[in-house]
Amino acid sequence: MIKKAVLPVAGLGTRFLPATKGIPKEMLPIVDKPLLQYAVEEAIGIGVEEIIFITSPEKYAIKRHFETDEDLPKRLVKSGKSDLVQKVNPEIFSKVNFHYVIQDEQKGLGHAILQAEKYIEDESFAVLLPDDLFISNKSCLSQLIDIHKDTSSSVIAVNKVDKEDIHRYGVIKPGKINGNSIEIEDIVEKPNPEEAPSDIAVCGRYILSSSIFEHIKSTNFDKTGEIQITDAIRSLLNEEKIYAATYDGDKFDCGSKKGFVHATISLALRDKSIKEDIVNIIKDIV
Ligand code: G1P
Repeated sequence: MIKKAVLPVAGLGTRFLPATKGIPKEMLPIVDKPLLQYAVEEAIGIGVEEIIFITSPEKYAIKRHFETDEDLPKRLVKSGKSDLVQKVNPEIFSKVNFHYVIQDEQKGLGHAILQAEKYIEDESFAVLLPDDLFISNKSCLSQLIDIHKDTSSSVIAVNKVDKEDIHRYGVIKPGKINGNSIEIEDIVEKPNPEEAPSDIAVCGRYILSSSIFEHIKSTNFDKTGEIQITDAIRSLLNEEKIYAATYDGDKFDCGSKKGFVHATISLALRDKSIKEDIVNIIKDIV
C-alpha cells in the first residue's frame, strides 16, 4: 500500500503572472476548486495518509487551505449554509497529515523530491505534479497502483505526444509491453525531437521506490542548473526494473494557459449545475 505522497509546489508560476503575484499558481481555481485539491483528492483516493508538500515560504495560502478552519463553518451555520461546511473542511482531509517542507532554492524536480526524504522510510511513495490534472473514472494514480501491486516496482504515468512537443517532457525508450504496462529500457529528460527514443512522454504521476533518494543524491546538475528526477530514474534503472503505465482518461496540462482554460471549460461542462448555461454561452460565442 502506498501511504505517502509528495507534491512539489514550490514553483513561481511565472506563466500566470500577474495572477500568481499574490496567489500560488496551485491555488488558482478550476471552476470552484483549487488546482492543487484535485491532486490531493487523487492521492487520498488511493489510501494516502501523509501528504508532503514541497513548498516555498510565500505560499502560506496552501497551508491555510488544507488546515481545518474553525471559524468559517460557524459563520456558515449561522447564516443557514451548513451544507457548505463540508466544502470548507472536507471529511477526507481530517484523515490525512499534511506536511510542509520549504525548498529554499529552485534546483529542479529531483531536488524538490529529495526534500521529502525524511518523511519516507523504506517504502514506495507517490509523486504528483499538480499542474497535470487527470480526469478519468479510475484515477491515474490508481491505474499506476495496479501495476505496482503486480510488480512491486516503480511505475510512471506516460502518454503519447506529438513530435513537436516531445522536448517538453521526459521520454521513455519502451521495452516489453503487457497491456497498459511498458517495461522502461531508458529514459531521457526533454530530448530534441531527432534524439527522442520514442513519442511516449512522462506525465506528472509517479510511484517511486525509496532507493530513488540515493540516486537523486548522486545525480549531477544538468545544463540548466537543475537536478532532474528523470536522470535519477535513469540511474535507478541500472538496479531495478521500472514500468511505465499508459493511463486511460483525460489529461490537462494546467501549467500552460491553454491547458488551464481547456480544463476549466471541460470541468465546467461536467458540472451539472452550470453545464447547460455553459453550452449556451459557448454556442453564443462560436
Ligand atoms: C517535469 C518532468 C518531466 C515530465 C513533466 C510532466 O517537467 O521533469 O520529465 O515529463 O514534468 O509534466 P516540467 O513540466 O516540470 O518541466
